[in-house]
Amino acid sequence: MAAELNSEAFQITAHSVIIRRPAGREYELPNLWLRDNCPCDDCRVVETQEKRFILSSVDADLAPTEVGLDNSQLSITWPDNHQTRFPLSTIDQLMIPEPKLHQPWPHNFTPETFDWSLFLTHSQTTVASLTSFMRWGAIVLTGAPTQSESLELLSPVLGPIRELLFDRIHNVSVTGHVYNIAHTSLGLPPHNDFASYSFPPSVQALHMLQNETPGGESIIVDGWAILEQLRLDHPEYFKILCEFPVPFREFDQDNETYATEPMVRCNIDGSIHSLRYSNQLMQMMNPMQPGIQQFYSAYRELCVRIMHRESAARSTFRLEGGQLLLVAAQRVLHARESFQPVAARHLQDAYFELDNVANKLRQLQASQKSE
Ligand SMILES: [Fe+2]
Ligand SMILES: [Zn+2]
Repeated sequence: MAAELNSEAFQITAHSVIIRRPAGREYELPNLWLRDNCPCDDCRVVETQEKRFILSSVDADLAPTEVGLDNSQLSITWPDNHQTRFPLSTIDQLMIPEPKLHQPWPHNFTPETFDWSLFLTHSQTTVASLTSFMRWGAIVLTGAPTQSESLELLSPVLGPIRELLFDRIHNVSVTGHVYNIAHTSLGLPPHNDFASYSFPPSVQALHMLQNETPGGESIIVDGWAILEQLRLDHPEYFKILCEFPVPFREFDQDNETYATEPMVRCNIDGSIHSLRYSNQLMQMMNPMQPGIQQFYSAYRELCVRIMHRESAARSTFRLEGGQLLLVAAQRVLHARESFQPVAARHLQDAYFELDNVANKLRQLQASQKSE
């Protein structure tokens, strides 16, 4: 069966309806997809617009008994007489790919700075700063309070603190609880925190309360940019890093966190989802296990690139007291130069989740559009 209406046409196959649109586009719509996505009020929870229809209520070989196309609206009658009407504009919308917010850093990148108070209270500044954060994976807030625990104040924008073991707000100084290299004055190689969790936190706020010591510059590294270059230069290394499980451990006398995961995770489309990288938390592996030599070659190459001081994917700056660095922690690694512990240096950090940050940005963008 075929019909020509307003230069649009459809064709019914055993499992789908094929629509030809004027511009030469063709959509093949599976019958089960059409039934599952019926937008009518019986198939949705009207108050919430959530789907209510459940696919188990129809046969696997479900097919329309009647199809019509009029004014870019598809009408379908199903065997139980249920009617589905589908504006084709809904399907057009689905063809537009979700924009990727992140971008590789430009030459000589340093994170954009925003004022702490405006970040929290002025919605245009919040949108600008969160957009910059989602794009580059790092921003700096200036004019932050220098009182302890001030990170609690960020929740209205960043969402709830993601609590992990050891502390809710972690103190980084040479005088407190020492369970990590960060609590010494040694230089810290680029890493992300809590590689020892199956799901490490996706946002980290590093809040400098006081920094009077010489040295200790902050360093950030765009881990995804390094991985993309590695994928181009050595695809076999990239593949190994996506597949070879590596154990990570962080512990003290009361805690024992442990996860065995590959260093790189990709999304279904092949884009990078996350990098897990911590020299200090990585554990000794069975040296006889298959593939370990190849893993070590791949890991060494990644390590060389992450440690490269002149890398275009590295940015170095000094974080003063009252400044805060926010990083997308599964993308951007953080590090610090060694410092001389001759004066006060006190940093606090806390973790948040990128989903909550993205939610805040979408919410503010929608409310600015409707103003
Ligand atoms: Fe850290
Ligand atoms: Zn329906």
